[in-house]
Amino acid sequence: MTDFTSVKNKVAIVTGASDGLGKAIAMCYAENGMKVVVSDIDAEKGHSVVEEIKASGGEASFIKTDVSKEEDVKELIDFAIETYGRLDGIVNNAGISAESRPTHEYSLAEFDKLTSIDLKGVFLGMKFGVEAILKSKASGGFVVNVASLAGLLGNSSMAIYTSAKHGVVGLTKSAALDYAPYNITVNAICPGTIKTSIWRNAPEEVIQQYAKLLSPNGRLGDPKEVAHLALFLASDLARYISGSAITVDAGSSAGKLTPTQWSHPEILD
Ligand SMILES: NC(=O)c1ccc[n+]([C@@H]2O[C@H](COP(=O)([O-])OP(=O)(O)OC[C@H]3O[C@@H](n4cnc5c(N)ncnc54)[C@H](O)[C@@H]3O)[C@@H](O)[C@H]2O)c1
Repeated sequence: MTDFTSVKNKVAIVTGASDGLGKAIAMCYAENGMKVVVSDIDAEKGHSVVEEIKASGGEASFIKTDVSKEEDVKELIDFAIETYGRLDGIVNNAGISAESRPTHEYSLAEFDKLTSIDLKGVFLGMKFGVEAILKSKASGGFVVNVASLAGLLGNSSMAIYTSAKHGVVGLTKSAALDYAPYNITVNAICPGTIKTSIWRNAPEEVIQQYAKLLSPNGRLGDPKEVAHLALFLASDLARYISGSAITVDAGSSAGKLTPTQWSHPEILD
């Protein structure tokens, strides 16, 4: 079967689903017949995501969760089981970024805050989420961790974010080996520069400048372009893919960009 009907009725949690990539993933899952637990620290926006999903005929529920708190994550998993009776997958997406500055200028408080969400939050989602997926005896369970290109490459002035995202890729690879015998896949998505709320207040010319600088195809990614990979990884089409850190970046991590000399530029006319 080469379509996505295998995801129908699967129950999935998406963290950080009130906005940005998490919202796009939650909407895409629901559009394809999955039952989605929308979870986020922002309850107001989270409820409106659920309303949007329901208005288009999908099934979803909201619970407020701070992924850096063990009790909250336990409650999130219990809520999913109480609401839908089982859990097939979890998308650990919630994350924050930090201001850019050289490594020695970050405070320990900044390091602790960022890693408590971007790394500990993913660990907690996996710890309690996988346990529930195992208990659900899911035939085709999945974990999708949203890392970043910063999980694969170093970045100047971004040491703490980069270290947390490298940690997410490490968690992903190790857990993939732990759960392969139980038919649970564990993968990381590594987005490049995607147009989410972080760009909301930026003037269009600044966005264009960044797009030229950071993306070989000259534009920022659309959150839906990340959601489509998350959908594929949730489906039975991806059962032999595990432990992978997959980029969604228009090729920006493939190598260095150098100016291209076309011998026959007229073919572009
Ligand atoms: N947008 C990009 O270009 C990009 C690139 C690489 C990786 N990422 C990663 O993608 C993920 C989503 O980023 P985004 O761009 O959609 O950001 P976003 O700010 O648009 O959305 C993040 C969501 O996470 C929620 N959140 C923040 N702290 C939380 C907490 N403690 N507990 C629960 N929810 C919390 C926010 O309320 C928000 O709804 C992050 O992990 C981010 O690091 C984004």
